[in-house]
Amino acid sequence: MSIPFGEQLHEAHILVVGASQGIGLGFVTHLLTLPRVARVYATYRQPETATGLLALAHPHLVTLPMDATDEGQIAFALAEIGAITQRLDGVINCVGFLHSGGLQPEKSVRQLDGEQLLEYFRVNSIPTALLAKQVLPLLKRSDRSFFTSISAKIGSIGDNRLGGWYGYRASKAALNMFLKTIAIEYSRKSPNTTVVALHPGTTDTRLSQPFQGNVPADKLFTVERTVTQLWEVICGLQPSDNGGFFSWDGTPLPW
Ligand SMILES: NC(=O)c1ccc[n+]([C@@H]2O[C@H](COP(=O)([O-])OP(=O)(O)OC[C@H]3O[C@@H](n4cnc5c(N)ncnc54)[C@H](OP(=O)(O)O)[C@@H]3O)[C@@H](O)[C@H]2O)c1
Repeated sequence: MSIPFGEQLHEAHILVVGASQGIGLGFVTHLLTLPRVARVYATYRQPETATGLLALAHPHLVTLPMDATDEGQIAFALAEIGAITQRLDGVINCVGFLHSGGLQPEKSVRQLDGEQLLEYFRVNSIPTALLAKQVLPLLKRSDRSFFTSISAKIGSIGDNRLGGWYGYRASKAALNMFLKTIAIEYSRKSPNTTVVALHPGTTDTRLSQPFQGNVPADKLFTVERTVTQLWEVICGLQPSDNGGFFSWDGTPLPW
């Protein structure tokens, strides 16, 4: 068995996409406490919701405005990162949404709307594919690195027993397919990069807030607990985990 990823981390440079709030901001805060992490690059799309991130002003933190749904902005932000470092040890994409404004998850086919479905794919699925395209040169190196997006167990087709939430489910299933396909291509082009989808568990953020009523207290994680658990999963990754889908406790999930 080779060394788990976390043990070979040294002076690591990590990119967190969607770091304005919630799990993304939690990752940034956690990573900045780790002696093995030299620099954290954190992206946000709008300053209004990124006040917590922008207030951190840590010497090892580089904040970058970037809307992950816009490939031009991804390319621009990565060029800025490329001017600072030749390599990234890891990428964590935390961009995603379940509800926003008048847009609510659909309970029935009667509620389906083409524009709303497109919006789910635009935000939850496509940014990961565009990121994988743009970030490859910074991940391609002799040391190990990782590329992950925060998915959701609800995107598992095999685990779908309740139905509902059509757009969110389907966009996370599409995200999973993107990650699996990226893992296969990266295994040829960047063989030391491990690509995985991660399920965080229900976490107390803006995204889950309206739906927390039915969640037992011990099943609703704080952001701090979620990022600590997911970081442990990332640090335990083996090259053979490439193309996998893992829950917050490291258990493999069905596609
Ligand atoms: N919380 C949970 O229980 C839970 C469970 C399973 C999976 N997840 C997944 O975990 C990830 C992080 O979610 P979270 O719970 O931390 O939610 P959150 O607090 O709402 O954060 C979501 C992040 O996505 C960004 N985002 C949202 N809509 C966007 C858009 N239209 N364009 C660009 N960026 C957008 C947000 O940026 P702004 O601040 O600019 O809006 C923010 O950085 C998501 O992929 C979510 O699906 C969460």
